[in-house]
Formats: sequence, C-alpha cells, structure tokens
Amino acid sequence: MRIGILGTGTLATALATAWTRAGHDISIGGRSPERTEAAATASGARARRLPEISANADVVLLSVHWEGIAEILTAAGAPAGSLVGKALIDPTNAVEHGIGVLRTEPGRAIAQHVAELAPGAHVVKAFHLFPSTRWTTPGSEPATVAMCGDDPRSLELVGSLVRDVGGVPAVVGGLDRARQLEEAAGFVIALAFAGVDPQSAIPAVP
Ligand SMILES: NC(=O)c1ccc[n+]([C@@H]2O[C@H](COP(=O)([O-])OP(=O)(O)OC[C@H]3O[C@@H](n4cnc5c(N)ncnc54)[C@H](OP(=O)(O)O)[C@@H]3O)[C@@H](O)[C@H]2O)c1
Repeated sequence: MRIGILGTGTLATALATAWTRAGHDISIGGRSPERTEAAATASGARARRLPEISANADVVLLSVHWEGIAEILTAAGAPAGSLVGKALIDPTNAVEHGIGVLRTEPGRAIAQHVAELAPGAHVVKAFHLFPSTRWTTPGSEPATVAMCGDDPRSLELVGSLVRDVGGVPAVVGGLDRARQLEEAAGFVIALAFAGVDPQSAIPAVP
C-alpha cells in the first residue's frame, strides 16, 4: 500500500518503520525539512514535501500534536480537496497531559474537527491508545486496536494496516463514536499519570 505520513515525530517514525518492515511504500513529511529527512532515514521511508504526500498515498496518517492539525492539513492541501476519497487515519489525542481531560468542547471529537478540515476524506480514528513502541516491538499478546469510521472500505484498509503491525482491529462504530474512543485515551492517560496501571482498572470480561 502507498501510505503518506503527515508528521515526523515519535508515532510517525514508529509506524513508518513498522509499515516499511511490512513491505509498504511510505512517504513522510513535516513542517521541518531537517526533521523530515531524519524521520525518513530512521524509518526507511521516502521524504516528501507536504503538498506531495497525498498525491502519492492511498492512505494518509495524521500524526502531529493536536495544535498542529490545522496547519499540517492545510499545508498538505486537505481543505482544498487533496484527500478526497482517501482513508485518513487520526491517532491524535487532544488531551491535557497529566490530568487526561480532553481539549475539545463537550460532545465533540478531534476526529470530527479533522474531518471538517479534510473534506471528502474518510477519517478513521485508530492507533491513539497504545504507545508508539508497541508497533516496533510487539508484545506477546496482540494489541486490540479500537477504531471507528464511516467508510467500510477505509475501515478495511486501516484494519489490514493494524494487522501488519501485530494488532487486531476492533471497529466500534461510525465516526460519531470517536469522542468515546478519545475519552478512553484520556482515561488511560489520567490513570498512567496517577501511577496506576490502566489495565488494572478494567474488568476482565471473558
Ligand atoms: N507517541 C506516542 O506513543 C503516541 C501514541 C498514540 C497517539 N499519539 C498521538 O500522535 C500524535 C503525535 O505524537 P508524537 O508522540 O509523535 O509527538 P511528537 O514526537 O512530539 O511529534 C509531534 C509532531 O507534531 C508536529 N507539531 C507539533 N506542534 C505543531 C504545530 N503547532 N504545528 C504543526 N506541527 C506541529 C511536530 O512537528 P515539529 O517536529 O516540526 O515540531 C511533530 O511532527 C499526537 O497527537 C499524540 O497524541 C502518540
């Protein structure tokens, strides 16, 4: 698959590395040419300028800090339609670190904001719950990747990319469930910062 990655940070580099290992064709780019080159070298991906990423991708991963979402989507031409018909993976957490409170207004998901900035793209919320290291050093048990989105074909594509990095996709519903998935990340982050293993706070359901 041709995968475009917007962002050059920790998660962008980890998934670029894991998908490169799985045999995909990865393009990566961010606002800094130096950090783009470094991320490409570290992951085995191809460095590209932001306006060229979408034209060379069937699926795009948006992997930036939530404050940079509008800037990078605009630089990639998304508001002008560059992502029409493409799957757009949103792993972002608009969460106050330390306390785990969402920065979006009540009832609203950052994924909905992403969908508005990328008209025509098929947004899939996924990969926002596990630390990036999980995809480069998989554990003994496969990670369940809870995800949601409105386009069945895009959910299928992203599901196959989840399997490629050792995960198991679990679709919980349409993009209207994104707020719930984002709150789940806030819950996990809040417990982790409180020194509690989040897994110990969830009942085992056979
Ligand atoms: N790391 C993880 O384990 C993990 C796991 C799940 C989800 N996530 C989510 O994935 C996203 C990326 O996290 P990360 O850990 O990879 O972060 P990171 O290593 O700090 O990298 C952040 C990326 O966002 C860009 N960025 C930051 N502020 C920006 C702004 N105002 N305008 C434009 N670009 C900006 C950075 O560009 P510059 O380098 O140019 O500053 C960089 O490409 C976040 O939304 C995070 O919540 C991360």
